[in-house]
Amino acid sequence: MTKETRILIAMQKSGRLSEKSLELFKQSGIVINNGKRQLLYRIPELPIDILFVRDDDIPMLVSEGTCDLGIVGSNVFKEVELSKKDEEFNAAHFFSLGFAKCRLSLAVPEHFDFHSPQSIDGLRIATTYPCILKDFLKKNKLKCEVAVMSGSVEISPHLKISDIICDIVSTGATLVENGMKEAYNIFDSEAIFIRNTKISDEKLKIASKLVSRLDCALIANKSKYVMLNAPKSKIKEITNLLPGSESPTIMPLADENKVAIHAVCSEPVFWDTMEKLKAAGASSILVLPIEKMML
Ligand code: PRP
Ligand code: ZN
Repeated sequence: MTKETRILIAMQKSGRLSEKSLELFKQSGIVINNGKRQLLYRIPELPIDILFVRDDDIPMLVSEGTCDLGIVGSNVFKEVELSKKDEEFNAAHFFSLGFAKCRLSLAVPEHFDFHSPQSIDGLRIATTYPCILKDFLKKNKLKCEVAVMSGSVEISPHLKISDIICDIVSTGATLVENGMKEAYNIFDSEAIFIRNTKISDEKLKIASKLVSRLDCALIANKSKYVMLNAPKSKIKEITNLLPGSESPTIMPLADENKVAIHAVCSEPVFWDTMEKLKAAGASSILVLPIEKMML
């Protein structure tokens, strides 16, 4: 009997990225019930195993082929990729997941007079992302000193370890709490799937199938099913207001001056869209979540 081909995915063992990833798998019908917090989890119904590790280790585990795929922040991936630019590196971006969005930004003390990247020339910058930062400094012809820290970067100006920092900003609360302001975004980050560039076609097929299932769940998350009643004379005006909908269904109603319109909207339906629909003559407007969808 030939051995079953399985793929191994590296995933962050705890933190925001892992929670969102597990949620997305669940929405795609793949429940990862790792109650015992094992390092290795075997998905019973699929040829997929998950290895729970520290996120900083994911790019190298994938590059060295220990894992076939990994889910990691693009900031972490970019940092490792740049640090290995003179060595063999066999991991590449595979698929963007669109969640865990944040920015790697230069941040300066509240009263710092920042106009452009030139304003920071010659200063000392603390960061956990020295390679992305040095790449940015080089491209902008800036001569700064880089102080590498493994965490708590935001306190370094208070300790006089640095003048300014280069750190991850999500809500911006950490900067405010530390008397700093975001000055310049140098890298946009989000969760991504990375893959080993040398995996077999058979493994790539399993990976592609998984990614397309996750993609369907991501699209379903964003999409809504909209149902409403509309005066016959307003069909065009009302369907034009439905965000990202293709060819809505139009059905007759008992009241022959009216129709029912049903549509899948691929973009968020906000309250102001609903108010515009109502103002255009729509009534009984329902916006429903979509559980599964395949385009
Ligand atoms: C990042 C970053 C800030 C915080 C920013 O840290 O280093 O501390 O998030 O988020 P905010 O803008 O929403 O306040 P993270 O939680 O990733 O942990 P780390 O610093 O230990 O890497
Ligand atoms: Zn932090």
